[in-house]
Amino acid sequence: MDALTALKERISANKFDPNRSLSAAEIKELVAYATEAPSAYNIQHWRFVAVTEADAKERLKSVAYNQQKVADAPVVFIILGDLQGYEKMPQIVAQTVAAGILPAEQGESWVKMAQSAYLNNPTLARDEAIRSGAMAAMALMIAAQAKGLVSGPMIGFDPEGVKREFHIPDRYVPVMLLPVGYAAPGNWPRKPRLSVDEVLAFGQGREF
Ligand SMILES: Cc1cc2nc3c(=O)[nH]c(=O)nc-3n(C[C@H](O)[C@H](O)[C@H](O)COP(=O)(O)O)c2cc1C
Repeated sequence: MDALTALKERISANKFDPNRSLSAAEIKELVAYATEAPSAYNIQHWRFVAVTEADAKERLKSVAYNQQKVADAPVVFIILGDLQGYEKMPQIVAQTVAAGILPAEQGESWVKMAQSAYLNNPTLARDEAIRSGAMAAMALMIAAQAKGLVSGPMIGFDPEGVKREFHIPDRYVPVMLLPVGYAAPGNWPRKPRLSVDEVLAFGQGREF
């Protein structure tokens, strides 16, 4: 399936077939595609907790307003954003320099720029973590669609409850829950969108 078809056919699924599972290799492949997403300075703030065991999914469901899809989907990703993602910049930049993409001096200045941008600006750090996590979530959803799976992004959960139940350190902000699996009957068709003319302005802003 090409990317445009995947975009057009993706829906937020509510009904997952509880009898079909995904292997660890399939889950890893989905995350590998998700990590193709872009991020500021290539910081890659996204982190993923794959919840697959029935009892763990029940615990997750209990902090997600008992939404049944959390129990039914074979995997629910807790997508996290790292509020201190810039700390990995030296490693990330070293890879890019070693690949011959970035000159070493420019790499060093990227490390400094990222640190000074985020270190004393928790609002920007949080915005960036959520932005990157959302980018990765979308990439994962499209990859899932292209592989014949469905997904259902969710913000309907208690973030503190999710952190407590899954021992998630405070440096990570829960961005989204993302159940992924095989569709069961009963999902809504694709919902209409606002028209392009209602959401697009050329050249300057306006009251949309
Ligand atoms: C960030 C985000 C959070 C969402 N949270 C929930 C949720 O908690 N429960 C739910 O049933 N749907 C949730 N949705 C799904 C939206 O309702 C859905 O994307 C929207 O109605 C458009 O439908 P479509 O994705 O099928 O095109 C969420 C979607 C996004 C992007």
